[in-house]
Amino acid sequence: MDVNTIFLLFFTCFTGNIKSVSGTRSFSIDYENNCFLKDGKPFQYISGSIHYSRVPQYYWKDRLLKMYMTGLNAVQIYVPWNFHEEKQGVYNFSGDRDLEHFLDLANQTGLLVILRPGPYICAEWEMGGLPAWLLQKPYIVLRSADTDYLEAVNTWMAVLLPKMRKWLYTNGGNIISVQVENEYGSYYACDYNYMRHLRTLFQYFLGENTVLFTTDGNTDKEMTCGTLEGMYATIDFGTDTNISQGFSRQRRFEPRGPLVNSEFYTGWLDHWGDQHAEVDSQKISTMLAEMLSMKANVNMYMFEGGTNFGYWNGADHDNRYRSVVTSYDYNAPLSEAGDPTEKLLNIQDTIRKFRDIPEGPMPPPLPKMAYGLVTLSMVGDISSLLDELSPQGPVKSHYPLSFEEMKQYYGFMLYRTKLPRDLPESTPLICPLNGVHDRAYVSVNGVFLGLLERDRILMMNVTGEQGDQLDVLVENMGRVNFGSKINDLKGLLTNLILGTDVLKDWLIFPLDIDEAIASGWPQSGLRQPPPGPVRGPSAGPVFYQGTLAPNGLAWDTFLRLGDWTKGQVWINGVNLGRYWSNRGPQQTLYVPGPLLSPSQPNNITVLELEGAPLHTRVVFLDRPVLSSSVSKT
Ligand SMILES: *[C@@H]1O[C@H](CO)[C@@H](O)[C@H](O)[C@H]1NC(C)=O
Ligand SMILES: *[C@@H]1O[C@H](CO)[C@@H](O)[C@H](O)[C@H]1NC(C)=O
Ligand SMILES: *[C@@H]1O[C@H](CO)[C@@H](O)[C@H](O)[C@H]1NC(C)=O
Ligand SMILES: *[C@@H]1O[C@H](CO)[C@@H](O)[C@H](O)[C@H]1NC(C)=O
Ligand SMILES: *[C@@H]1O[C@H](CO)[C@@H](O)[C@H](O)[C@H]1NC(C)=O
Repeated sequence: MDVNTIFLLFFTCFTGNIKSVSGTRSFSIDYENNCFLKDGKPFQYISGSIHYSRVPQYYWKDRLLKMYMTGLNAVQIYVPWNFHEEKQGVYNFSGDRDLEHFLDLANQTGLLVILRPGPYICAEWEMGGLPAWLLQKPYIVLRSADTDYLEAVNTWMAVLLPKMRKWLYTNGGNIISVQVENEYGSYYACDYNYMRHLRTLFQYFLGENTVLFTTDGNTDKEMTCGTLEGMYATIDFGTDTNISQGFSRQRRFEPRGPLVNSEFYTGWLDHWGDQHAEVDSQKISTMLAEMLSMKANVNMYMFEGGTNFGYWNGADHDNRYRSVVTSYDYNAPLSEAGDPTEKLLNIQDTIRKFRDIPEGPMPPPLPKMAYGLVTLSMVGDISSLLDELSPQGPVKSHYPLSFEEMKQYYGFMLYRTKLPRDLPESTPLICPLNGVHDRAYVSVNGVFLGLLERDRILMMNVTGEQGDQLDVLVENMGRVNFGSKINDLKGLLTNLILGTDVLKDWLIFPLDIDEAIASGWPQSGLRQPPPGPVRGPSAGPVFYQGTLAPNGLAWDTFLRLGDWTKGQVWINGVNLGRYWSNRGPQQTLYVPGPLLSPSQPNNITVLELEGAPLHTRVVFLDRPVLSSSVSKT
């Protein structure tokens, strides 16, 4: 037994000498006995992360019950600010965003809650949960004591935190502790005034006695910038870290109090172009057992990963921009579709060695359906559909405007201008300083010529005649959620240069594709095809639509667009997310059963950005394919 281990064992929770405060609900830290105290008794949590924003509301109960039946006594959740305040001052706490309903279901299930309200959450979520409208102040210093930033944070927390009061454990709810910010020590700013401000704000709204804590990565630098007196310092680490070394770092910052690993990584995320990440199940169980035997409190990140529906995925930017895939399966104990995996059963066996598991069976996986093939038909290219997709029409601007300047924060925008001169020979179109955020699909007079991609494709060739219409569709692939580059503006951020000309005099069309599709387009507006030869599938950004015939069942299924290139998919008006089959690793999109109608034709809409296969077929499978290395059959 090494010195660290002896040190740790000495400082873990002893069960003797307990003062019991009968009848009152309390949750606190016992610095004498190095543990949490719940109602005056020593308490150890075995928790799992689940993000309500990544699971449709109708499945919350199912996932929570499976977590409870595994033997967990708590769940850890993030509150993504931008999910609740997409437009400044307009709040949404209903449907899939009904946080209090989620807390209620967890409470009914018998699960305590560790709340992580940010304001920044990372989470591989678009902009780390910060609303993109903050970037309308172009010089704002996010996650610091910047006045504009703090003002927005104050306003948001004054909406959110009062709603949380009645859910605090001491007030009859299930929230036992509240994390302030998130891995703040990993951020370059290291601004103690900001953290002090947040501490005051949280104490003001939640009371002085609520257990506040911070979570930081496992280095001294991160712990130094991320921790502050009055907020309990916890750490996070995965299977690549030595447990006693990890906890001894926490001990350097919290010499006494409970050991806490706030994020024990059960798996990992995928970016487009990565190999699918997997973390060994046996290693998870062994390390979990070791931590539990030290009486440490452990939260498994993730326990249920879920899905980045719509445009909610984040991105990293280390050497270059890397967008997170649609699935957030995370190789977690519960799969993206909520199925118990072997990893879950191993974890349950481990927990059983330390405490009683609730009696009764683990709920089985929900049934899946292979609905089979559907052939889609072309609706038209995006440039010819602007009446439907951009009802408010374009904004004129000498130079390009960003998404944020246009107040369209997500999705796609179209930039249109004319070729300034005849270009009989291939002429380079470039975007200096990497100003395409994140991908631009370029066509001249409706003919797709190619694309530019941030950090990867900085030049393409254009030919045409003076006055030809140049259309540049720009895709926001998700704002950076981690590190120093989180002021991640979208759109064309610099001028485009064609040969020797700076392109000017743009018409910029904001596109509200999701609104059009939610109100029934294109199925509602389908016209007879114009007479003449049938156009085959063309390259470039083109919409396709089709219907999946109902078969009386609305079961979970997985949509594969194997030979398609890259795009976005909607089913019955709901945005399922992005596919990018040829970059991978993800090959199927999760379709929750309740999205489907058992009795009416189901509407499928696809925006393919580069090129559809000749057969224009998609297929619904009964199992996910999250790794490209799985053979394409
Ligand atoms: C609020 O969010 C829910 C769930 O995403 C959505 O169904 C609803 O339309 C939103 N409400 C408003 C007013 O935008
Ligand atoms: C949480 O559940 C407990 C036990 O079922 C119940 O007494 C309590 O009222 C619930 N709290 C809230 C805020 O609903
Ligand atoms: C962790 O590190 C300690 C030394 O600090 C060492 O004794 C122990 O064997 C290590 N554990 C593992 C699992 O490598
Ligand atoms: C552009 O055209 C030039 C001249 O034809 C050619 O050398 C170059 O490879 C082309 N570049 C691209 C990216 O297609
Ligand atoms: C499909 O779209 C049509 C036309 O907008 C609509 O009437 C129908 O209800 C939609 N089907 C489903 C299952 O939502």
